[in-house]
Amino acid sequence: MSQQSNTPLLKIEDVTKVFHIREGFSTTEFHAVDKASITIEADSPKIFAIVGESGSGKTTLARMVLGMETPSMGILQYRDRVLAELSNKELKQWFYKEVQPVFQDPFAAFSPLKRIDHYLYETVRNYKMASRKEADAYIDSVLREVGLTLAEVKGRYPNELSGGQAQRVAIARALITKPKLIVADEPVSMLDASLRMSVVNMFRKLKEENQVSVIYITHDLATAYYAGDQVAVMLRGWIVEKGTSEQVLGNPLHPYTQNLKTSIPSVNVSDAWKEKIDLAVVEADEYTRTGCKYAGRCPFVMDKCHNHIPPNFVHEGRAVKCFLYEDPETMAQAALGEVVVT
Ligand SMILES: Nc1ncnc2c1ncn2[C@@H]1O[C@H](COP(=O)(O)OP(=O)(O)OP(=O)(O)O)[C@@H](O)[C@H]1O
Ligand SMILES: [Mg+2]
Repeated sequence: MSQQSNTPLLKIEDVTKVFHIREGFSTTEFHAVDKASITIEADSPKIFAIVGESGSGKTTLARMVLGMETPSMGILQYRDRVLAELSNKELKQWFYKEVQPVFQDPFAAFSPLKRIDHYLYETVRNYKMASRKEADAYIDSVLREVGLTLAEVKGRYPNELSGGQAQRVAIARALITKPKLIVADEPVSMLDASLRMSVVNMFRKLKEENQVSVIYITHDLATAYYAGDQVAVMLRGWIVEKGTSEQVLGNPLHPYTQNLKTSIPSVNVSDAWKEKIDLAVVEADEYTRTGCKYAGRCPFVMDKCHNHIPPNFVHEGRAVKCFLYEDPETMAQAALGEVVVT
């Protein structure tokens, strides 16, 4: 595939996913992802963290990037190609080699009845990459990338591995096709704290040494801050703040990001998050309300927040979707359209 050097690796542009919920005889629609835009440049690999409370649309966005869900509106572009225009052959022979998923539960990807190396050989075979002997050497090399060896995992069943080891095998499997982008949806949330860091460090190593970019979806602001180069914060389908992790998580501007940061103690974040945020004050109509979706919970709410959707303002180097940061300079930039911070 031909690419120009300035073509982004991934461009998510105003992507929206509408779901319909049936209640009795009526159907309501809501936007699980609402005009989300993210750009990951191709020139240097990045870890792009996506954070946000439960139900904010992180997985739906990831599934669209992986081609598992079709956007209702907007454009998803991988390198120089629009995803929706790829043929099945292009998907299999190109896109699914370059873009690999890693999911939350490492054991869900493996049958308890099959030896774990089966999946590694199967992936190698599917991509017609090697003879058995070459396959052994190649599989050993990808396992070594994640701190394991073929000798350690060969012949073992999934229940004979720890969660951390199983997640490493899942990542090794993803590496077999030499991907350029890994989409990891809560890859560490089922691991205990010590293993989390080793998997997160592995993503950093893959970025540095193998030139792999990672979309890292997490509830864990601490690892997002530690590993993420860029961060997008999701609220009810919107991206409300986007910039470097230093900016967004070091010094959050959006009241929702500020709330997330103060709601979360540093250890065992995903559990704590669900408990700490007072779900009683999360209004049921947040997906569909006119104006800002955070207006019902925001300590700084102003009259116009109830009736007008805030555009993205550029403030202190990041995009923030909040009228608190409206000023003449940022208004001028916002008038030019969606402000993309890459
Ligand atoms: N196939 C579907 N049909 C209808 N609604 C859906 C579907 N998939 C997801 N949703 C809804 O879309 C919203 C966003 O869900 P999503 O799974 O993307 O959130 P999330 O940010 O990944 O949450 P979590 O942190 O809990 O994983 C939720 O309200 C969810 O119930
Ligand atoms: Mg999810």
